[in-house]
Order: sequence, then C-alpha cells, then structure tokens
Amino acid sequence: MVRAFYPATVVRRWVRACENPTGVAVFSNRVPPGLAPNRIATELARRKPRFDLTVSNPTQCGIPYPPGLLDALADPAGFAYRPDPRGLAAAREAVAAGYVQYGAAVEPERIVLTASTSEAYAFLFKLLANPGESVLVPSPSYPLFEHLARVEGIEAIPYHLNPEFDWRPDLPDLAAAPSEVRAVIVVHPNNPTGSLIHPDDASALADLAAARGWAIVADEVFLDYSLADRPGAGDTFAGTEQALTFSLGGLSKSVGLPQLKLAWLVASGPGDLVKAALERLEFIADTFLSVSTPVQLALPLLLREGAVVRSAIRERCRCNLTTLRQAASRVPTVGVLEPGGGWSAVLRVPAIIAEEDLVLELLQEDSVAVHPGYFFDFPMDGILVVSLLPEVAVFAEGVERFLARIGTHLTL
Ligand SMILES: Cc1ncc(COP(=O)(O)O)c(C=O)c1O
Repeated sequence: MVRAFYPATVVRRWVRACENPTGVAVFSNRVPPGLAPNRIATELARRKPRFDLTVSNPTQCGIPYPPGLLDALADPAGFAYRPDPRGLAAAREAVAAGYVQYGAAVEPERIVLTASTSEAYAFLFKLLANPGESVLVPSPSYPLFEHLARVEGIEAIPYHLNPEFDWRPDLPDLAAAPSEVRAVIVVHPNNPTGSLIHPDDASALADLAAARGWAIVADEVFLDYSLADRPGAGDTFAGTEQALTFSLGGLSKSVGLPQLKLAWLVASGPGDLVKAALERLEFIADTFLSVSTPVQLALPLLLREGAVVRSAIRERCRCNLTTLRQAASRVPTVGVLEPGGGWSAVLRVPAIIAEEDLVLELLQEDSVAVHPGYFFDFPMDGILVVSLLPEVAVFAEGVERFLARIGTHLTL
C-alpha cells in the first residue's frame, strides 16, 4: 500500500527520475514514474504475516462496533441531493459540538467537511500555496505528506523534531525556513512518535506563523487517543487566535471508520483572514462536492454512538502498550519511546542489523510484520514502529517473537 511503503526519501528519488526522463514527457512529475515495490512490500505480497503489528485499520482488529452504528446511513432523507459546499449544517453542528470537550468554542460556520483528511490537505494546499511554493512538515512523521504536497505541485520541506527533547520541534530551524513557505504542518499527537505539541511551542508557532504570514495546519486526527498525561494532551489548535489555523479531524480515527470517507477542517485565527479563507475553501469544495449525503446525514449519530468505539480503541492501545513495556523491560537493549497519544509505539533496538533486514527476517522467520523506522524518516538507525491496534493475543505473541529475534542477534 502506497501509504505504508513509500517514505520521503524514496519519493525524492522518483521526483529526480521524473526530472530526468529518458522517454517522451507525457506525464507530469507530480506522480512517480514507476511504482516498483520495495523488498518489504514484495515479501508481504508473497505471504501474509500471522502477527501483523502494522495494521492501522481498526475494523480489522476485532474492535467491537455497536450493531446499529451504520443504520443512519439508510436515512431516506439521503435520496434528496441539496449539496452545501461546506457540508450540511447539521453535520457541521455535530462536529462543532465535539470540540466542547477540548474547551474550544467552534462555530459550525468555520467548518468545512471533506471526504478524508487527505482531501482536507489537498484543499488547504490549493488554498495556500502556488505551484513551486512549499509547506513545512514534521520529521519523523506521517509518510504521506511528501505525496500530498507533490500531487498539488508543491514541496514538503521537513523540519526536525528533537528526539532528545520529547520530539519537540526545532523552532530556530523553523524560523530559518525559506520565503516560499506558505504553511507549517503540526501533527498532534504525531504519528508515529505519539508526541504532542507542547503548549509553549504551540504559542511560539502561532507567533512565528503570524509574523511570517504562514498558516498552521494542525492534524489532530489522533487527539481523542491520549496514552499519557503530558503537556499538550487534550489541547486543540481550533481556538488559535494569532495566526490563520486549520485543525483537521475525521471519522477514520474518531470513530475508527476509514471507509465512510468523512473528515473536517476547522478554521480559526484573525477574523478577516478566516472569512477570506472560508470563502475560497467554499469555492474549492464546490468544485468537487465530494462528501456523500448519506454519511453527512449520519454524522451526528456516528459521532455520538462512536464514543464506545473510541473508548474500545483507546483501551486496546493502552493494553498493548502495557504489554509492550513489560516485555521490552526484559531486554535491556530494547527501549520503548513512550508515546503521549495515538495508535503506535516506537521501539529502539540495537542497530546491529539494518532495519530493513531485520524487518524481512521477522517476516520470513517469525511471520511478524513491523515497520522500519526509515519509512517515517527517523534521524537515527535501529528504530522499529508497531501499531497498538492488533488483537491483544496477536500483539503479545508478535512482540514475544520479535524480542526473541532480537535476542538471537545479541547472542551471535
Ligand atoms: C497523521 C495522520 N493524518 C491523517 C491520516 C489519514 O486520515 P484520513 O483517512 O482521514 O485521510 C492518517 C492515517 O493514518 C494519519 O496518520
């Protein structure tokens, strides 16, 4: 799957290949010239691992969903088509109500619905950046940013999160960004480090963005999934006042239903900028009208009844994290980099074998799938990433096998 298996470094290679085409230039360089699978993808296509610690779709992990949860999709009102480019009012009201728990007063007028968070990024990049301009993206983080930027004809410039300092952003690095930058993306909590934006950094970022004329794009898809009490937990960017800010969320994480295809963005910041941004976003959204009417009609019920799904996912992640900590504590050379929130955990392992070789060995010898750190552009070797979503027995056995495999290398 593209999302999982093409990290930023690989995309940059594709782009260079596009810039030096050997054949006739028929296609744009927004998409890669070839999609040859890497060694891990090839191995995964050959055999399905019994202990898949990379699974990111909660519908495939035995999470209990309330039986009638999808009934509202059959509302006969869905036969009528009266599109609103920003999304149906009742749906936006339901999204706005969800921010009360985070202490932000969000008016439904400041919300735009999209088919996914990816589409929200696409709309925002169209809104904010001309072809050739750039957005700042955290590193390590979600590997899709390279693609999302590239297909919009813009560049994703990484800024560093400091592993020695709870993965906090390097603010001087950000301040030195070039003039073509139009926005800074923050992921709160970040995938896969699980780190949160510290309130001091949130405020420094807002000041910097206001001074530089950048927008802030705050990806908060994992905000509901706190794993530890850390500064920033439960804080949303939806109330930011100093700079134009867009906070993103969606059903794929909030109710564990990625297949329903509904997400949202909330605009905040100086009133005149927010108004101008929303007018333009409405224009962009009107060009696509991509969110289906049935899912918008169902949204209030989905968000309300989805509370039990959120709790079940949170419980699953916490339980698996405890298992991971306990198991890893038996192997002094393996460390869990404690996440503040989200659905994944990062492991430090002895860098005695290349990440990719270790991942392949785990697949071939132990039927265990994990992600190598380089998929996410970690700045160091010896990093593996596991999902905290798998069924607890699958997770526990996968972790045991993984630690045993590390053990064989240590005794060699
Ligand atoms: C940080 C982050 N943002 C967005 C998404 C995708 O959300 P959507 O399914 O709404 O496009 C993911 C998926 O894993 C993610 O990790």
